[in-house]
Amino acid sequence: MRIGVDYYPEHWDKKLWEQDADLMKQTGVKVVRLAEFAWCRMEPKEGEFDFSWLDDAIDILTSRGMKIVLCTPTNCPPLWLYEKYPDAIQTGKDGNKIAIGIRGHRCYNNPSFLKYAKRIIEKMTSHYAGNPSIIAWQIDNELEANFCFCEHCISEFRDWLKEKYGTLDVINQTYGNVVWSGEYSSWEQIKPPFGSYPNAWLNPSFMLDFNRYASDNMIKFVKMQSEIIRKNCGNVPVTTNTWFCENMPDFYKTFEDLDFVSYDNYPVTKIPENKEEYYSHAFHLDLMRGIKEKNFWVMEQLSGGLGCWMPMTSAPHPGMIKGYSLQAFAHGADTVVHFRWRTAATGAEMHWHGLIDQSNVPGRRFHEFEDLCKTAEKLSEIEGTKIKSDVAILYSSDQEYAFKIQPQTEGMYYFEQLKAFHDAFTKYGVNVDIINWSVNLNNYKIVVAPTIYVTDEKVTKNLYEFVKNGGTLILTNRSGVKNEFNNYRMEMLPTVFAELIGAKVSEYDPIGYAEQKIQMKDGSEFTCTRWCDILETTTASVYATYGDSFYQGKPAITRNSYGEGMAYYIGTVGRKALYSHLVQNVLTECNIEHFDHLPYGVEITVRENESDKYYFVFNDSDKACDVMLPNQLQDILTGDIFNELRLQPYDMRILQGQSIQ
Ligand code: GLA
Ligand code: ZN
Repeated sequence: MRIGVDYYPEHWDKKLWEQDADLMKQTGVKVVRLAEFAWCRMEPKEGEFDFSWLDDAIDILTSRGMKIVLCTPTNCPPLWLYEKYPDAIQTGKDGNKIAIGIRGHRCYNNPSFLKYAKRIIEKMTSHYAGNPSIIAWQIDNELEANFCFCEHCISEFRDWLKEKYGTLDVINQTYGNVVWSGEYSSWEQIKPPFGSYPNAWLNPSFMLDFNRYASDNMIKFVKMQSEIIRKNCGNVPVTTNTWFCENMPDFYKTFEDLDFVSYDNYPVTKIPENKEEYYSHAFHLDLMRGIKEKNFWVMEQLSGGLGCWMPMTSAPHPGMIKGYSLQAFAHGADTVVHFRWRTAATGAEMHWHGLIDQSNVPGRRFHEFEDLCKTAEKLSEIEGTKIKSDVAILYSSDQEYAFKIQPQTEGMYYFEQLKAFHDAFTKYGVNVDIINWSVNLNNYKIVVAPTIYVTDEKVTKNLYEFVKNGGTLILTNRSGVKNEFNNYRMEMLPTVFAELIGAKVSEYDPIGYAEQKIQMKDGSEFTCTRWCDILETTTASVYATYGDSFYQGKPAITRNSYGEGMAYYIGTVGRKALYSHLVQNVLTECNIEHFDHLPYGVEITVRENESDKYYFVFNDSDKACDVMLPNQLQDILTGDIFNELRLQPYDMRILQGQSIQ
């Protein structure tokens, strides 16, 4: 398993390069990522290219055995380009160009920018073609599905709509533009959502398409780059480093044509007071693995306290630097690259801490990193192992966009719905995949499809098939609400899913932050909040009923046999205890190996190959704890055999054995 660092030779005096490379080698660093913001050094003047400094840096690093990830530098065009083509910079919502001097501010559709971007990628990739030390290319940096409001982007958006709908009549009809006299009579009337009105005042069908367009538009930019890289660099794998940002692209489409997923992983360093966040790091990692349904990389990994554009956050506690990297391995990463080798001494990011502090004296965090590198070197045995899961949670960017466009009720967020289930399964030490809502579900026993709010025919069919063939499906409130155009379906909720769940929603009550009680059929009671679907069963049995309000006694959760399988419908939003109870029942019912008594914060994931299973046992909490193992398992690093484990905060043990139960 490989550990790497993000390094900026262009930020440092050349004298430091050799020292750095020596220390990297001695520490056990195997991969170095370079050059994602260095366009002004590679093309200091228009048409004058200089890769000599980068060649030197690469030589110094590779002569010490390091492999290189090179990045295209399109995130930050040099100032001479903006000087000559001021329109290459994005236009904001207010119609004005955004400020020069920050990064990520180029317009993906500006012809002048694209001409220069293609040329620098062409030059860079042909210069490094055939260099065996370059093991991957990264496109740009943390790409976002930006909204730019310039004339080129407006015309791209109109073309996207033309391609999708053909005529204005179809658009008017589909969007219901007659509402508020918004019918288009010419293409020129179609504008992106300018101005300061909140999204909620705009047509939700139009807004969903605008989000989809922005994502497709970003992906077009990615494709343009990957084509040039592949043309010149043949089989070198291509990626882009993604993250969870304000304008998220569709992850699945983004990586469709790329070779592997890479992710920027910054677990929060503040210890959560209410334990709510313990498993959320794992959630993000599982989502990343699910994008291509295969192992991935972390391209930027926590190395110190965060800062720069926010007040500084708490320093990573002892154990976090090492533990969170190993946790990424546990969830399917094969290479973890730490951001950054050294804290910046100049520029906007000075307070974002690297592995070595501004003093340039390696300290506590660095020594922990050193230890991590030594551990990773000993893990060759788990290379090539994969994660197999019986449980999947479905994710779709359509829902993410639609929920942002029209918030449902106070405090209800799409991601929170997914996390609630992920958290519950993780608590029982089972592997969970988070996958595209439209993929094949045959290999799973349990599928959770939280809020399939915007529906899709293929997905609906898949879900029916899955249950019919014996799968267990969990659906939730706000399912079946909209068609693919983000318009209401005029049927009783949950519309297309009514037959599958054997129940209908006769009315609903969006209660926001208020709370309610529900009673399960086994007598246990739980708190629910945010939303209450008042259900009427047709073929389902009642699993839980409401305890308060005018719908006291009415069904809140139902369970329906359908074909060979089972469909649960949860008409409300619970707290952790509710999901935990429900998930435990479902795991038992489906005969899935799990742990009933893991201390909160402890995760167990399994990576396996044809012959062996490796249990990664991780304490993602600040308290030492004991984990009872039902079997004797062997620590692959120390050879010790355990029945019971004492885990220090952020401690990871990798154990080998046949079966844990
Ligand atoms: C992101 C970026 C990096 C850096 C870090 C921390 O992850 O990709 O370039 O800016 O944030 O600031
Ligand atoms: Zn633009």
